[in-house]
Amino acid sequence: MTAGPILITGGTGQLAQSLCDLAGSRDIVRAGRPGFDFDDPDALLALLDRVAPRLILNAAAYTAVDRAETDRDAAWRANADGPTLLARWCAANQARLIHVSTDYVFDGSKGAPYTEADAPNPIGVYGASKREGEIRVLSELPEAVILRTSWVYAAHGKNFVRTMLNAATKTDRLRVVGDQIGCPTATADLSAAIWSIVARIDSGAAVESGIFHAAGSGSTSWHGLAEAVFAEAARHGSNRPSVEAIATTDWPTPVRRPADSRLDCSRLAAAYGITLPDWRASVAATVALLCRDDSLRPSPTAAV
Ligand SMILES: NC(=O)c1ccc[n+]([C@@H]2O[C@H](COP(=O)([O-])OP(=O)(O)OC[C@H]3O[C@@H](n4cnc5c(N)ncnc54)[C@H](OP(=O)(O)O)[C@@H]3O)[C@@H](O)[C@H]2O)c1
Repeated sequence: MTAGPILITGGTGQLAQSLCDLAGSRDIVRAGRPGFDFDDPDALLALLDRVAPRLILNAAAYTAVDRAETDRDAAWRANADGPTLLARWCAANQARLIHVSTDYVFDGSKGAPYTEADAPNPIGVYGASKREGEIRVLSELPEAVILRTSWVYAAHGKNFVRTMLNAATKTDRLRVVGDQIGCPTATADLSAAIWSIVARIDSGAAVESGIFHAAGSGSTSWHGLAEAVFAEAARHGSNRPSVEAIATTDWPTPVRRPADSRLDCSRLAAAYGITLPDWRASVAATVALLCRDDSLRPSPTAAV
């Protein structure tokens, strides 16, 4: 492998931020828009040549699942064309690539956790663009590592956990979808897993490439996740709204979500000895962190 820094793409996105937070003393360069933009491939390639990374951690993506339906080209550029460019650059420059993908490559109809051997069948533009990115990355760079993750949240950024905590400051009753299940994943846990893989790469030991599922252990519904968030927040003195479980059909969205996108992460455990922590413990840790943020505490008059 060449010398050079580790390039972390994704600016201040959820995963990119956690990767930077957990980078320790490693030589990293963080790249985000406007300087690093998949919509500007020439500038992006110039940046890669200038930085000359030995490894790219690609946490940049078009993640607006609903908006992607009407913004197909931008989603495709960020999730398929952009990662292709990164993989091609890595292949030409003896650099490594760890790329991140999604459970939304599956349609959610299997009825059991998905393994890497299961056939993807995305049901929306976002999932389709991410699946295309996987295919093209591996075709340009077979030694790439692709981590499919799911239901991502962090103490920063826009995510379900923070949305729920904010809602708790405004209302005592919520309706949350109870018939979609998946594996909530804290970016801190995923980042720790990624840095472990980087350590393996840096050690010069054999590194298994291809697609790996990398999600929090265990699974729940959005309703179960909301309940866990509020139970932990209540322990820290926050308002605990009542949460009604509703059907997906009662919460229409522009694009359907997979009903059951649980990921079987045993390939990651076998190849790298990595198992992400149980989702409940990680949600509790994130909520505890957020409850120290006064702006998220309910005001005495906020509840209705
Ligand atoms: N969020 C989830 O629930 C979830 C679930 C499964 C998998 N994933 C995958 O996990 C990875 C990390 O997601 P995340 O939650 O950290 O996403 P995020 O918080 O939405 O951050 C994505 C980052 O990508 C950047 N980006 C978007 N379009 C870009 C473009 N055209 N060129 C360059 N950068 C661009 C965004 O920049 P701006 O800030 O300028 O928009 C943002 O900084 C992604 O691969 C995602 O597909 C996420």
